[in-house]
Amino acid sequence: MSDATTARPPLTKVLALVPTYNERENLPLIVRRLRESVPDADVLVLDDNSPDGTGEVADELAAADPHVQVLHRTGKEGLGRAYLAGFEWGLARGYDALVEIDADGSHPPETLPAMLAQAADADVVIGSRWVPGGKIVNWPLSRKVLSIGGNIYIKTLLGMPVNDATAGFRVYRADALRAMGLDDVDSYGYCFQADLTWRAVRRDLRIVEVPITFVEREIGQSKMNPDIARESLRNITRWGVRYRVGQLRSLAERTGARRRSL
Ligand code: GDD
Ligand code: MN
Repeated sequence: MSDATTARPPLTKVLALVPTYNERENLPLIVRRLRESVPDADVLVLDDNSPDGTGEVADELAAADPHVQVLHRTGKEGLGRAYLAGFEWGLARGYDALVEIDADGSHPPETLPAMLAQAADADVVIGSRWVPGGKIVNWPLSRKVLSIGGNIYIKTLLGMPVNDATAGFRVYRADALRAMGLDDVDSYGYCFQADLTWRAVRRDLRIVEVPITFVEREIGQSKMNPDIARESLRNITRWGVRYRVGQLRSLAERTGARRRSL
């Protein structure tokens, strides 16, 4: 990890990215909470042409508030693709911090000021369920098992010093995103979150976890499905194998070099 005391520029322009697929009732609620919690931040809705008309709701919100804008995408391409488009949009417009937050109210915008404060000397801040003080409200046991199991698998295989590597509530410094080299990301679903965590770890970026209370949505449905879970398992296993083989190779090289020098 890099030095905590390394001076980082102050954050002046913050953009909250809100991906939506069929969230027409949730969107006005989350946008209002965001605007109240971080009044200086801008909000960009990333809508994948939701059949329920979320895109039109987003347009209405944008028309009523200059801090709110919408990126209309042509179809459902997964959370990862939507966020990549949002990052590109925000980086091109000079934002110095980009926030990821679900539209369904699971991530409390009220915790965002504390997360942004932590970003004063961190590159990535994760709103974490699995650190002391973190909580989950109304998740079925099956989802908890999946999240805990996934995080244990990730930690074991990749050796990452992060407890909630799949969390979807984050602050990224713009410079961190640029350093992470996002051009070859090929994670479409929620695996995107673990992918970016792994990229940040490998680049020695400073990651801080802030405890949050995650509240399961009351309106609408989760888009989690077996394909999303399979993609995570496949990609994480692939990165893990590559990482461990790399470790073994460098160990073998070091041992060989020592033997030759004897
Ligand atoms: N634009 C777009 N396109 N948005 C999407 C898509 C998509 O293909 N799929 C999901 N979303 C949006 C949803 O509308 C919601 O705002 C957010 O992404 C999260 O989707 P949910 O379906 O509510 O996710 P979840 O509650 O099952 O999963 C949560 O936990 C995961 C595992 O920890 C989220 O916090 C994920 O980010 C997290 O990885
Ligand atoms: Mn959700």
